[in-house]
Amino acid sequence: MGVTGAVDAVGVILDGLRRLEYRGYDSAGIVLVEGTGSSGGGGPARLWRARQAGGTKSVARLAEEVSGAPADATAGLGHVRWATHGRPTAANAHPHLDCTGRLAIVHNGIIENHLELSAELRQAGHAFSSETDTEVVAHLLEEALASVPPGSGSGPGPSALAVAVRAALSRVEGAFALAVVHDGEPDLLVGARRVSPLIVGITEDGGLLASDIPALLGRTRHLYALEDDQVVEVRPGSLQVTDLGGRPVEPRPLRVDWDLEAAEKGGYDDFMAKEIHEQPLAVRETLLGRHLPDGSLMLDEMRLSGAELRDVDKVFIVGCGSSYHAAMVAKYAIEHWARLPVEIDIASEFRYRDPVLDRRTLVIGISQSGETVDTLQALRSAHRCGSKGLVVTNVVDSSMARESDAVLYTRAGPEIGVASTKTHLAQIVALEVLALYLGQLRGTLSPDAIAELLDAMRALPDQLEEVLRRGPDVARVAEGVAGARDFFYLGRHVGYPVALEGALKLKELSYLRAEGYPAGELKHGPIALIEPGTVVVGVATRTRLWEKLMSNLAEVKARGATVVLVVNDGDEETAAQADAVCPVPRTRPLFSPVLDVVPLQFLAYHLARSRGLDVDRPRNLAKVVTVE
Ligand code: F6R
Repeated sequence: MGVTGAVDAVGVILDGLRRLEYRGYDSAGIVLVEGTGSSGGGGPARLWRARQAGGTKSVARLAEEVSGAPADATAGLGHVRWATHGRPTAANAHPHLDCTGRLAIVHNGIIENHLELSAELRQAGHAFSSETDTEVVAHLLEEALASVPPGSGSGPGPSALAVAVRAALSRVEGAFALAVVHDGEPDLLVGARRVSPLIVGITEDGGLLASDIPALLGRTRHLYALEDDQVVEVRPGSLQVTDLGGRPVEPRPLRVDWDLEAAEKGGYDDFMAKEIHEQPLAVRETLLGRHLPDGSLMLDEMRLSGAELRDVDKVFIVGCGSSYHAAMVAKYAIEHWARLPVEIDIASEFRYRDPVLDRRTLVIGISQSGETVDTLQALRSAHRCGSKGLVVTNVVDSSMARESDAVLYTRAGPEIGVASTKTHLAQIVALEVLALYLGQLRGTLSPDAIAELLDAMRALPDQLEEVLRRGPDVARVAEGVAGARDFFYLGRHVGYPVALEGALKLKELSYLRAEGYPAGELKHGPIALIEPGTVVVGVATRTRLWEKLMSNLAEVKARGATVVLVVNDGDEETAAQADAVCPVPRTRPLFSPVLDVVPLQFLAYHLARSRGLDVDRPRNLAKVVTVE
């Protein structure tokens, strides 16, 4: 967040950071522009910075450290960081400075082409002091500022800093919400956004920038939402918005009637609804920067060489709960694209069954938290057998990330609801990128095939937006089956893990009995349980075994079950077999779990709420499971 012209810049920033704490973070920092207050005396302004990497104690520690801050500061930036690029250390915490120390930046999002830019900037003599993608923007801005004609920004007329921000952003690919200060224009904040949200607030004698509404709540009613590729100049009492070409645009006012609690939930009734709606962003961010201009794919901390990975002759994937379901999808993708044999295991069983592992085995652990003890121990036991370990996790520097040979991060942002939603989708997407990566290394996929598959993946966030718009339709489907006690979820091929995930969501949120089955298995016993009143939820999008699934569904319908189907848009033939349908857009079969699971999240959500249950904190469950 950023503040200018406020009486107590430090107090306003710290208060804003505290209000963003609910999202979880690992480090925090603040920068103040000194000498801009009434006692500044007109001397040259300077930047004062403090950063702390103390987990959730970071803001409290920062509050202690700022007791030594300049008393006359009236402008500044603050940030709480949830690590994506670089570990959660003080050196990686924002704000980041340029080489001169005269410019500071805070940033949310991911700079997709940061490797390319940092190589160029290092070549030009810039010294980097962090492992973050953000720091490249500080140095890009330094370069851009040096090219701004003298005189700009020293009085009325265009601000040198805003000119530099627009120039620098024309080089940047990816997602960003950023705020910048420079000691040459000490009461100016410049903000800009693409994909990641940024909000502006104006008071009579001040100005504010923040990534989320809670930080600004109660400070002013004059709020504006920046749109993609807009730049804002905020001065005490005024704002000016332009596009990236410098053309003025009218700011979009934002009307907010929320209290703090509602604001933390983004206006939704609970975190789960908010997080379901954050899924397009989670998928978009997880995909950012994976495809380099030379056509190769990029993972995060790949401490395994191409030669080591080409040597792999077998893959095991371990995880628990929703993470295990993501592993199931990954098995289909890796076997199909990389032609490597894959075994999947519930992590709590893996190390007790004496699996055959050696140094040519790759063991992939999937864990949102990176701390689940069953998965951690499974990875450790594989490591002791000499296998290579790779982790897919949402938490940078978590125990699993630290101990593994390679890490692939899902960039879903903190998940507060106990039931996994956005992290599950991000896991599937990350694992499918990994499958493509293995296919590339092993030469089982051509560059054209990879590019084509990535294009289909990049369409997923927009398709997810479409599925989210249909949430109210699923609420009506839920009303129709609200009295039922027994649910079966059926799927085949990649629809099977989706069915398991749908059943798990229903169990944990609504406490209703729900079983997930591969549909072909029903006739081997469970069909005895089907009777009028049983609800059968089928994942009936057009994947490989659609025809066979339809025969299995005919068997349950004949026994009086109420059939709810997830179907592709416009598929009347499938819809005709159902009592109720949840349509989703078409995608490639192996990507279909990303879209198909969302109506099932909604179904579980609405059924739980209709029973008066707390969807964010289901009984008997913990977000991080650190016991065996
Ligand atoms: C289900 C759910 C759990 C977790 C499981 C693994 O909604 O949240 O089943 O998926 O406890 O947790 P992580 O992924 O943190 O290892």
